[in-house]
Amino acid sequence: MNPYIEKLYKLSTKNERIIIGLMSGTSLDGLDIAVCKISNFGADTKCEVTHFATISYSDEIKNKIRPVFSTETVELKYLTLLNPWIGTLHGHFINQKLTEWGIKNEDIDLIASHGQTIYHCPNSFHSFSDFNNGTLQIGDADHIAAETNIITLSDFRQKHIAAGFEGAPLAQYGDYNLFANHQKDTLLLNIGGIANFTFIGKGYGVNDVICSDIGPGNTLMDQYVQKHFGIDFDKDGEIASKGVINSDLLDLLLSLSFIKQAMPKTTGPELFNLELLEKLLSQINAEVSPHDIMATLNEFTANCIVKHIQQLDITNSTDVLVSGGGAHNLAIVAKLQDKLGKHFRVLKLDENGINADSKEAVLFAILANETVMNANAGSKNGKQLTMGKISLPL
Ligand SMILES: Nc1ncnc2c1ncn2[C@@H]1O[C@H](COP(=O)(O)OP(=O)(O)O)[C@@H](O)[C@H]1O
Ligand SMILES: [Mg+2]
Repeated sequence: MNPYIEKLYKLSTKNERIIIGLMSGTSLDGLDIAVCKISNFGADTKCEVTHFATISYSDEIKNKIRPVFSTETVELKYLTLLNPWIGTLHGHFINQKLTEWGIKNEDIDLIASHGQTIYHCPNSFHSFSDFNNGTLQIGDADHIAAETNIITLSDFRQKHIAAGFEGAPLAQYGDYNLFANHQKDTLLLNIGGIANFTFIGKGYGVNDVICSDIGPGNTLMDQYVQKHFGIDFDKDGEIASKGVINSDLLDLLLSLSFIKQAMPKTTGPELFNLELLEKLLSQINAEVSPHDIMATLNEFTANCIVKHIQQLDITNSTDVLVSGGGAHNLAIVAKLQDKLGKHFRVLKLDENGINADSKEAVLFAILANETVMNANAGSKNGKQLTMGKISLPL
């Protein structure tokens, strides 16, 4: 038997697995690396994050990815070469962190790699009548496995699409396993480039969970400040706080068809980008200053999140556990608390070492754990959904 296959089998019989979860989302800010000690599976999953870091992408790396990121036309030769390059880069980042943390590669059981999303294309976003949903993440995991000598699971979203879903959000499964509370409703909100939430009502099974993208996130604000202020993001929402909300622009943003579309739904910077913003601004007669645009985009993100939470019809007092980089945006968090009212407590997620920054990476480690343990991670028409492809080291 191939020793790696045997290793996989043995892993499923161990009490505890050490799995590295990786996440690099649409913000292109960097690679999140979470070392997770995971026992059990399904609703009994226990997970402790022993080490976590985000390795920021340098400008050089960002500039390498941007030519193929959420853009309709790419140079195929370039994309072909970028795919293994990112895999090797992520493997190199893992090696670097493990050395720094004094952890031997052989002590890691598995890596769970999300890959770098370059295009997300749900059915609602294209007009090719013969095609359904699609999404593309690159950074091939054979290169991560070869670089680290660790078995790597990757490309989790394709199985979700094969089962008839949109490939996102996948947070439903990990959120349920980690945070479902049978005594009360649980609401998890992630504000990355795109915002999504997971609502787990008291007594829900994993397939009752409501999990959907909401809209942006940070992506519009990030794209705008990068172009007009020359910075990566609006720290603590300071720029937005200095502007005045433009109600015409806000109304146009809130009346986009994606916002009105029923949940579950998914989106990305393929829709929410500066081209869209320019188009909407051209429909307004008055000049809108950059600070006012930022104030409006910030308000749009908060407003959109609140609108979608209100659709959940939650009547009990509920904590909103916020993760993702947007959890650090004080202006947004304050608005969420203000608009949602005293029935809700808006809190930065921080449980068992799983915090606002690490959660998304941890969720992929949980998916890999489900795949190895053959648990019912999710299902479609009663069929089991086992996500992720397996790459073996050299
Ligand atoms: N202190 C902060 N203030 C405001 N926004 C922040 C702060 N820290 C991080 N962010 C935002 O979070 C983004 C990264 O969020 P992240 O959860 O990593 O998203 P993704 O999953 O898309 O990579 C940054 O691009 C930035 O917009
Ligand atoms: Mg990120």
